[in-house]
Amino acid sequence: MSNRETTADPTLDSPPASATSTRSADATEVVLTDQRILVLDFGSQYAQLIARRVREQHVYCQIVRHDITAERIAELAPRGVILSGGPNSVYEEGAPQIDPAIFDLDIPVLGICYGMQVACQALGGKVANTPSREFGRAMCEFIDHESIFRGMKDSEQVWMSHGDQVSQIADDFTVMARTATCPYAAIRHNTRPVYAMQFHPEVTHTPHGGQILHNFVREVCGCDGTWRLEDFADAAVEQIRKQVGNKRVICGLSGGVDSSVVAALLYKAIGSQLSCILVDNGMLRKNEQKIVIEEFSSHFKTDLHVVDAEDQFLSDLAGVEEPQEKRRRIGYAFIECFKAEAAKIEDAHFLAQGTLYPDVIESGADKDGPAATIKLHHNVGGLPEELGFELIEPLRDLFKDEVRRLGLELGLPEQLVWRHPFPGPGLAVRCLGEVTREKLEVLRQADAIVVEEIENAGLYRQTSQAFAVLLPVQSVGVMGDARTYDNAVAVRCVNTDDFMTADWSHLPYDLLARISTRIINEVKGVNRVCYDISSKPPATIEWE
Ligand code: XMP
Repeated sequence: MSNRETTADPTLDSPPASATSTRSADATEVVLTDQRILVLDFGSQYAQLIARRVREQHVYCQIVRHDITAERIAELAPRGVILSGGPNSVYEEGAPQIDPAIFDLDIPVLGICYGMQVACQALGGKVANTPSREFGRAMCEFIDHESIFRGMKDSEQVWMSHGDQVSQIADDFTVMARTATCPYAAIRHNTRPVYAMQFHPEVTHTPHGGQILHNFVREVCGCDGTWRLEDFADAAVEQIRKQVGNKRVICGLSGGVDSSVVAALLYKAIGSQLSCILVDNGMLRKNEQKIVIEEFSSHFKTDLHVVDAEDQFLSDLAGVEEPQEKRRRIGYAFIECFKAEAAKIEDAHFLAQGTLYPDVIESGADKDGPAATIKLHHNVGGLPEELGFELIEPLRDLFKDEVRRLGLELGLPEQLVWRHPFPGPGLAVRCLGEVTREKLEVLRQADAIVVEEIENAGLYRQTSQAFAVLLPVQSVGVMGDARTYDNAVAVRCVNTDDFMTADWSHLPYDLLARISTRIINEVKGVNRVCYDISSKPPATIEWE
């Protein structure tokens, strides 16, 4: 699952954003993205990372399917093309291939790992499985210090991750770099602008990988670095005004960064034509409603509708223990509440959603993008069709880190912009078994202590998600002279880049001790705290 905080629709079973969504053509594309780089995705776990790294060079980057035709690439007119890595062997039957005519377009190409192998194979080289598989750091000798390797030292650390490698290059290639076991660690074509490397410049374990990507996109491809979030904000504002005219837009707020940034952007674009709805389902974190109200009624002065629906959600959840059923009921109740409130807003024509670029890519909603391979998203699609609104998704070109930077740019407070993601069903999936008002209150207090202590230790930004889980377990304790028989709380804290895999955070013992002591002392009803040391997979981040 990807990193999604609550946005408009917390149901699990929403369909993906469909290619037939009612979103109209994106004018921002024309203004800012005329100098673009395309990443052809051969199934790499790093394709999105490559795109983000390119954008760090202020160059717009788009991920497209690996079998995109040369003709379509010519239409898109990128300044350069990057071929990603991938899990296959190029010589296997059915392995993803490239349209070889791409190499005739005179557009610079950079092949990475599998991308290198596919390029070499298409241009007359050979790829083989070698006994010297390399996974991890390697020292690389740079022979050529021109073009993509300008500024590299003679020897630098790089990150390798391959079983196959190029075993023979065609005559019109020259070796640019090698390692002890990889004679063709990087190569270039003698007459065409084609470069390829076996190692991964996009990962931080290749310390000067950023320099290599900079050299490729800015020097070799000649991009000027015009993709800047300030300009994106201006262009997006223009585009929203054009699309919306004098109509009204509804935006669901959740306290999460995506929906907050959407609202802030819309407010900048259309001011009083924006109405925001916050459905408080009673499953929010401590002070969450207060923070959102303060921000969006005082600072941004939006027409904010807060639906206090705690009673309705709690009665819908009464007696329900099964996690998926809890989610289903919460999703259903949310739609009901949202619908009822939206109906009170006259002349509403658009519904804004915080769909991000990874959602678009992973749900297969982009016509040139890779096919959906990963998942259906919690929050993409569903609600607008249900309500009959036209959809507006001003963040669908952005990665999460760009959304955060945009939020700061628009004047949102750091506290909101850097908040950890929070699931749509909220505390309900962290209050195991049946959800009751009393249990939620215990959980809310314990959760606030976890977050506060991690913040005090200066570790909030270094962790990806940190929270408490109230277990349906009672155990014996002793407090003062009295025997207790109370609840147990699990503390869950994870580090992850993409929320699809995650490692438990190795928090310092003294911090864990403080969290435990405070929860047991301050939260009535809890006498035991455990730390969850499971990684994902096989565990998930949430407990339900
Ligand atoms: P899991 O538990 O699947 O969570 O490892 C991965 C990420 O997804 C979030 N999550 C959800 N978000 N609705 C959401 O909006 C949901 O039903 C939901 N379930 C999990 C979770 O918090 C983590 O960030």
